[in-house]
Order: sequence, then structure tokens, then C-alpha cells
Amino acid sequence: MKVVIDADDAALELKAILVEHLKSKGVEIRDLNLVGDKAEAAYPEIGYNLAVKIKDKEYVRGILICGTGLGMAMIANKVETVYAGVCHDTYSAERLRKSNDAQVLTMGARVVGPELAKSIVNAWLESEFQGGGSTEKVETMRKLEKKSFHPGKS
Ligand code: RB5
Repeated sequence: MKVVIDADDAALELKAILVEHLKSKGVEIRDLNLVGDKAEAAYPEIGYNLAVKIKDKEYVRGILICGTGLGMAMIANKVETVYAGVCHDTYSAERLRKSNDAQVLTMGARVVGPELAKSIVNAWLESEFQGGGSTEKVETMRKLEKKSFHPGKS
């Protein structure tokens, strides 16, 4: 599974820890490091840059980290077909995959410490969409998303 990660200036230290953690687990991880190319880039640009790569299917899953995880989730959800959620506990991280089928996990480096962040990432990576009763709900989200991005088309 190809996973992509990025962070703003509030979360560079946590990002480096998670990159090492994922590598040690054998996960194929790419750090986009937008601030490396463009130091002034903030969460909207960084989150958008990663979310577009998920939309274009360059990567299957993405991790975005900022101070709170909120701004990253908000901007990633503005990219069509991309679903992102903030998780600061392992149960939510598991449900984000199992119930919501979200491709992007966001976290706040000012909210969680590195060990909890690693456990959250593990729970999210080890979980897949469960289907069943969640299928219709996720399909409804996708239908409503189309309506919102393409008003006028049924
Ligand atoms: C700092 O720019 C802070 O606003 C950002 O890291 C994030 O928490 C936004 O949601």
C-alpha cells in the first residue's frame, strides 16, 4: 500500500517520527515535504497538494498533520472524492476506515504525543472498510458529494 504524508510547520517533528515509524513497519511511505520547496506553505496548500494526489490515485492513503488536525481535514475534504477525518484516539482511527472509508487521516501535533500518534496510525492502517450497513451510508455521501460538486446534474 502506498502511503503519503505531509505536515505544516507545527508538525514537522511529529511527521519525521511517523515517517521513521512507518518505514520500520515496512510501509511504503512518501513524504511530500511541501515546506521544503516552499517554506511559506501553510496547511491549506499542503493539505490540498496531498489530497489531489489521493484523488489522482497516485497514493491509496494519506496522513496530514498540523497543529490541531482541523485545518488539514477541512481542506482535504474540499477535494472531490477525498474523505478525511481528524483522529486523536485509536477507536476513531479504526472507525474512520471501517465505517467511513476515508482515505486521509489527520492529526494535531499540539494535541497528541508521538506514541499515541503511532498507535493511531497503526489502528488506521490495519483497518479496512467493513461494508455491510456502512455501504449505503458511504454511497449516500458520495451521491451528495457529486450533487455538491456538480450542481444541476442528477
Ligand atoms: C498553525 O498554522 C495552525 O493553524 C495549523 O497548524 C493548524 O492547527 C490548523 O488547523
